[in-house]
Amino acid sequence: EKVRLKVKGRQSAVNRYSHFIVEGNGEMASNGHLCKHMAAADAVIPPDFELPVDAFDIPHCYEGDLGAVIVPEGMIKDRVRRLAKDIHAKIGDNELSLLCVLKGSYKFFTALVDELAYARSSCTQPMTVDFIRCQSYEDTQSTGMIQIIGLSNLQELKGKNVLIVEDIVDSGQTLARLLHTLEELGAQKTWTTTLLSKNVPRKVDVKEDFVAFRIPDKFIVGYGLDYNQKFRDLNHICQRSDNPPGIVLRKCN
Ligand code: HPA
Ligand code: MG
Repeated sequence: EKVRLKVKGRQSAVNRYSHFIVEGNGEMASNGHLCKHMAAADAVIPPDFELPVDAFDIPHCYEGDLGAVIVPEGMIKDRVRRLAKDIHAKIGDNELSLLCVLKGSYKFFTALVDELAYARSSCTQPMTVDFIRCQSYEDTQSTGMIQIIGLSNLQELKGKNVLIVEDIVDSGQTLARLLHTLEELGAQKTWTTTLLSKNVPRKVDVKEDFVAFRIPDKFIVGYGLDYNQKFRDLNHICQRSDNPPGIVLRKCN
């Protein structure tokens, strides 16, 4: 089976695992090979990739609610380690403000900060952390605005290189609005990193610079992601045993 490897707009095919598609923004070195630290590739979880819940150590209170483990904790750790290297290779030895979008990204954020600290160990410029929550007004009138809660002074981000750390991109709206807000505030450069990118049509186009896992259109819980505030403490990324009421899954492919 083929794996597509996009190299500066060109496509080449290599034989790889059938269920992992590599598609990223690799940089070509002068010798024509992909630079080791610039070959940013995404890990794609295929729709039928489901590991049995009983094969993992799951909190008793959640046992009946979960249909499958989609991404085990160990795999998240491995992927985040590489993602940190890719982020460092792209951003370089510059001051970096990491912006954690609570609550969903709290686990991804701490794992990423730990790995970035190793990846940036020889950097002369510091890394700072901030925590926000976004309140969107999609349920009332769609004003295209979000309220950012948590930063005492949003002006702190003016002139900064900001990496937004999100749990999941779905419609793209929250992330797009957050980016827009930061750019209006005068952030110097912005990037986004997301633990998950769901394979659904975006309502708005949004840049996804560093994606840990691309996942199919399933309702996901665990590793920070919730359903009615539950499951955030679950350490694996799981799908629920059935679609929770009120969640309509779109048909995909
Ligand atoms: N799970 C939890 N929260 C979410 C999801 C999901 O699949 N999609 C958007 N927010
Ligand atoms: Mg949520």
